[in-house]
Amino acid sequence: MSTHIAAAPGQIAPIVLFPGDPLRAKWIAETFLEGAELYSQTRGMLGYTGTWQGTRVSVQGSGMGQPSMAIYANEMFEAYDVQTVVRVGSCGALTENLAMRDIIIANGACTDSGINRIRFHGLDYAPVADFSLLRAAVEASEREPVASAVHVGLLLSSDQFYSTRPELNEPFVRHGVLGVEMETSGLYTLAAYYGRRALSICTVSDNLVTGEETTAQEREQTFGDMIRIALQAATA
Ligand code: ADE
Repeated sequence: MSTHIAAAPGQIAPIVLFPGDPLRAKWIAETFLEGAELYSQTRGMLGYTGTWQGTRVSVQGSGMGQPSMAIYANEMFEAYDVQTVVRVGSCGALTENLAMRDIIIANGACTDSGINRIRFHGLDYAPVADFSLLRAAVEASEREPVASAVHVGLLLSSDQFYSTRPELNEPFVRHGVLGVEMETSGLYTLAAYYGRRALSICTVSDNLVTGEETTAQEREQTFGDMIRIALQAATA
């Protein structure tokens, strides 16, 4: 049992899917896993373990933003020896070239957060995906019938959902960043620190250029293609 996760040792599988929303964790466990059992609901951050095509897989909610995500990632790596984490999240598209529900497989993440500035004494670290997971996810997306377009590229992990200065995104857009979310930079950094594998896959839930958005219920329940890609990559 760790401070924020009530699982006993061994209750969390070495492979974890890591959505931000605890109710999406419940939906993933109930929809995709066999024999899923709840191992933790501390602070409502639900975590389940079951099997997918015979392999034990857990699904753990992370909450929103790098500080919340880092609490669960640190404890999964440190206390439960988790080896592989695939974030399955949503993001806002930063360009008109992306459609609602397109999928971004993040090869790396920029950030406006100060967390890594503290960690690296003011210098800049380049958080990147685990290459074996990245390759497996791309291969899965080519094999699977996926309804939306799949892109590989950079995400911006922002500390502010409601930004007071959206123009700060402009240099990132100018340098090819595809979408904005709130967790990937921290996840890739922690995975590197612990020597574990991490990948982030996000479905476009809104577009900051066009103003389009999906509803909360759609965000919770229409991301099946992304989950199938994540499960195949994580268990490859
Ligand atoms: N996650 C989904 N949409 C987002 C946005 N517009 N900004 C930050 N995180 C997001």
